[in-house]
Amino acid sequence: MAKPRVLSGIQPTGELHLGNYLGAIRNWVEIQQQYDSFLFMADLHAITVPHDPTKLAANTYQVAAMYLACGIDLNHATIFVQSHIPAHSELAWLFSCITPLNWLQDMVQFKEKAVKQGENVGTGLLTYPVLQAADILLYEPDKVPVGEDQKQHLELTRDIAARLNYLFGKPESPVLKLPEPMIRAEGARVMSLADGTKKMSKSDPSDLSRINLLDPPDQIQYKIKRCKTDSIRGLTFDDPERPECNNLLSLYMLLSNQTKAAVTAECQDMGWGQFKPLLTDTMIAALKPIQDRYHEIMAEPGYLESVLRQGREKAEAIANPTLAKVKAALGYSVPV
Ligand code: AMP
Ligand code: TRP
Repeated sequence: MAKPRVLSGIQPTGELHLGNYLGAIRNWVEIQQQYDSFLFMADLHAITVPHDPTKLAANTYQVAAMYLACGIDLNHATIFVQSHIPAHSELAWLFSCITPLNWLQDMVQFKEKAVKQGENVGTGLLTYPVLQAADILLYEPDKVPVGEDQKQHLELTRDIAARLNYLFGKPESPVLKLPEPMIRAEGARVMSLADGTKKMSKSDPSDLSRINLLDPPDQIQYKIKRCKTDSIRGLTFDDPERPECNNLLSLYMLLSNQTKAAVTAECQDMGWGQFKPLLTDTMIAALKPIQDRYHEIMAEPGYLESVLRQGREKAEAIANPTLAKVKAALGYSVPV
């Protein structure tokens, strides 16, 4: 029997950080044996905020290299570039015609990003989730593994699929398959090092707020030394008054592969002066093999190109028939 399928993606809009790793990529690696994985770089989404055309292609390659460096195995996974597959854009147009405007205006991410951009809000920022729905539904995945912040976009994806099925399908033979979100509790929300109530993000203006996966050891040490803490002695998980403490302990737990109980026992009597060097060493050791592998992959001429070429072929073989099915349901003629 064929393995169930998962699909996910990350925007190539800057360096990947620990939130991307612990919230998304590491989970993809952990489940890849059980699934047929489709993983892509969302470079069409990357231009919904102002972008630098001289960096887009390089960033896209760097994210692909990072997937591989983090342990994505091409025996189980297909890695591809969103813009290499025209079906994504085409299905997004078809979906935009059946998606009520108020569904999009209610999206939390749209409201947050629109506020940041003031008067200069592109239409693409509003229709972003429609393209995301196309990304997902083209591949008919069983599960979509993402961080907590994507939950609303996945609900919208299901709503769009259900609406299309209702309007243009038959109850006994739906046009599109509804996928399930897969959001792990641990690592689903890695918080900023500067403010434990805000998520770690590529778009935070301060680089001190995040650990990038390619940060060298001295930079990791500096960022942990400078990160926000509190003046309470003893370290505890889940104290709502101590968001930074919970975040740093969670990072230590995830990066040292320990249980919450073990970390609680180890750290409950520690002060920051003792805990910070421990976290620093653990983080440096966890990232070193990823960084080494990343540099090897980037140094191998032609390798990424061949990975992405094969990825495109495998992805198209699934995406194009789904697009054809939707077009047929909407009544389009087939070109002769
Ligand atoms: P993005 O950087 O917005 O393209 O996000 C790519 C993936 O990383 C998505 O699955 C996000 O849910 C996940 N992600 C981004 N930031 C965080 C964070 N701070 N904590 C956990 N997951 C995150
Ligand atoms: N919006 C996602 C993010 O910011 C990226 C993304 C685009 C995505 N298309 C997707 C994630 C499809 C999962 C599936 O993280």
